[in-house]
Amino acid sequence: MTTGIETRDAGDRQGPAPTGGPEAASVPSTSPIEDAVGLARDLHAALSGVLLGTPVAVTTAVVAALSGSHLLIEDVPGVGKTVLARALATALGAELSRVQGHPDLLPSDITGVTVFAPDTGKWEFRPGPVFANVVLLDEMNRTPPRTQSALLESMEEQQVSVDGESWPLPRPHLVIGTQNPLGQVGTYPLAESQLDRFGLSTSIGYPDADVETRLVLHNGGRYALDTMVPVSDTAQWERAIASTAQVHVVREVAEYAVALIRATRSTGSVRLGASPRAAISLLRCAQAHAVLWARPYVTPGDVQAVAVACLSHRLIAEGTAGEGALLVGRIIADTPAPPT
Ligand SMILES: Nc1ncnc2c1ncn2[C@@H]1O[C@H](COP(=O)(O)OP(=O)(O)OP(=O)(O)O)[C@@H](O)[C@H]1O
Ligand SMILES: [Mg+2]
Repeated sequence: MTTGIETRDAGDRQGPAPTGGPEAASVPSTSPIEDAVGLARDLHAALSGVLLGTPVAVTTAVVAALSGSHLLIEDVPGVGKTVLARALATALGAELSRVQGHPDLLPSDITGVTVFAPDTGKWEFRPGPVFANVVLLDEMNRTPPRTQSALLESMEEQQVSVDGESWPLPRPHLVIGTQNPLGQVGTYPLAESQLDRFGLSTSIGYPDADVETRLVLHNGGRYALDTMVPVSDTAQWERAIASTAQVHVVREVAEYAVALIRATRSTGSVRLGASPRAAISLLRCAQAHAVLWARPYVTPGDVQAVAVACLSHRLIAEGTAGEGALLVGRIIADTPAPPT
């Protein structure tokens, strides 16, 4: 099953699906979010042109970019995880930094290190790969817990502390972590606090036969990636994140999001429910989903559309992987939604 955010009309769960995806909606001329809407559409189109036949992963990546949420991609090798990360960074005019997880990776290999510079006679900080707008942490569960912990501060506080000094990270700062759900040998499961820092999780899944044939004939997504033109720069991207945070949320919708979060804490088969950080993140992602549909306010449908991608990886359930998604689905079905 591919998990993530589907591109569908979030305003009315029972209503007809739009015919043309997010670009089919119209932008109210007075909307303060127009720029963010434009960026969302351009980004969606740009990513769809590179990562073929995987609309759920593309939509989830756009919501991550607009909400400024870190993104966890859990999938098997060769389905386009690296291509998605590279395409996202290129489209946003951002620098991409890549770290391959392995058992010998040290915290300083990610954060950076203070070294003595003989020419100046001073200790100088050499920033590590985390100092980038988009950081791809491939197979992050192959790094030991000590190194994974090095990311806790940077992912939450957008800064790195080394040897008693703090260094701000470039903004926006988006981490894309990947892990292979099948390769368990030699891995260290991500800690709950680490998982909670990922705003969204998604899988990519296999494309259908037609798309796979196109990939075979056209040398994968490489050509499209190499010729990709940015749709934004990092300043525009940062403004879009700020505008997205202004999308209107009425009290009833906020209460509905909180009811979903609280339901995760009282459901019998869940050992660890969602945190207040998850509640904030759920609404931020719902705001981004509203932007994708050119709507200056959040509906209960926006919350529902992002709930599985926002919450499933944070719930610790007994049993198999993927159960988080089923649990969130059940909680959505059982929690009364306010009228739209
Ligand atoms: N849906 C897709 N659309 C476009 N290209 C794809 C798709 N799926 C796979 N590819 C192509 O397959 C190749 C492998 O993709 P990529 O390196 O991103 O995989 P990955 O998921 O990062 O694998 P790994 O886990 O081994 O790092 C690339 O040439 C990529 O273009
Ligand atoms: Mg890869």
